Amino acid sequence: MPFSEPGKTKFQVDLRRHLRNQGICDNLIHLICEIAEAGKYVINAVRTGDLGVAGTSNLYGEEQLALDVLSDRIIRKRLIHSGVVCNIASEEMDEIFQAQADADGLYSVAYDPLDGSSLVDVNLAVGTIVSIYEGCNLLQKGRNQVAALYILYGPRVSLVYSVGKGVHEFTMNHLMEYTLSRENIVMKPEGDMYSPGGLRNKYQEGTEKFVRYLEEKGAKLRYSGGFVPDINQVIMKGKGIFMYPALNGSPNGKLRLLFELNPMAFLVENAGGAATDGKQSILDLEPQSLDHRAPVYIGCKAEVAKAMEFVSGN
Ligand code: AHG
Ligand code: MN
Ligand code: MN
Repeated sequence: MPFSEPGKTKFQVDLRRHLRNQGICDNLIHLICEIAEAGKYVINAVRTGDLGVAGTSNLYGEEQLALDVLSDRIIRKRLIHSGVVCNIASEEMDEIFQAQADADGLYSVAYDPLDGSSLVDVNLAVGTIVSIYEGCNLLQKGRNQVAALYILYGPRVSLVYSVGKGVHEFTMNHLMEYTLSRENIVMKPEGDMYSPGGLRNKYQEGTEKFVRYLEEKGAKLRYSGGFVPDINQVIMKGKGIFMYPALNGSPNGKLRLLFELNPMAFLVENAGGAATDGKQSILDLEPQSLDHRAPVYIGCKAEVAKAMEFVSGN
């Protein structure tokens, strides 16, 4: 029974109440609420924390910012103490962390604690991305996720989640409570906006032709450089396509399958959209390693299908 019936004002539905209405088990409700709570401490770090470098680098050889390390520690500690998590993988950790050995009734979590962290010092929106599986295996197809969510730290703080039964947005109020703002979000079949990541002068021929097709169609370019706000815009406006394609010299693009692409693909598919690496659905990719990267075209079904046509050349 949806909370927000057409024509009725939404009363203040909080996250835990909404999750209880999804018919999922208490451990998963508890886990998602714990992650939501951790987001409040990440917000504080983003707003007031040190903008400098941490002096370390991550699995991808990228220099870590103090905020990356702090956000990662906040979320990891919350997951460990939740009591419902067995394995943890983070974009900022080199290997999987085992919180509990016995996987029975527990979950595993892959997360990007602060995506777009390099944008904080120019005051652009950033976010936390989370992917949740049952049991202890984190290297399974994204289609097996039982939940995915992101928290967007922008002018407003919003949390968008799905447990496979629709996509729902919560917005943080003045008391720092998450209250339901959009329920059962559905994207349009096609749209007129595109978000092209990566260096255009390194685009491969198929991608270049696809972008020209979009421009001739009159699509508007919207790109912030932050994956979470850029995807949020596609979902909430219900239209358009984001891409971080294969580039000459980087055939797998930049974005990470476990921490960025699988959770966002799960959310976009549950909102009626699609996500591909140019050949197949992101959610059907077999993860090869923690640092598995893949090209991505994600958004409205029509645009994603068109991207596949141009990119696969048929
Ligand atoms: P992260 O900050 O977690 O490393 O991710 C940054 C990603 C993503 O937010 C965005 O889509 C992409 O980097 C932008 O890359 P470019 O700066 O190469 O456009
Ligand atoms: Mn990231
Ligand atoms: Mn990150």
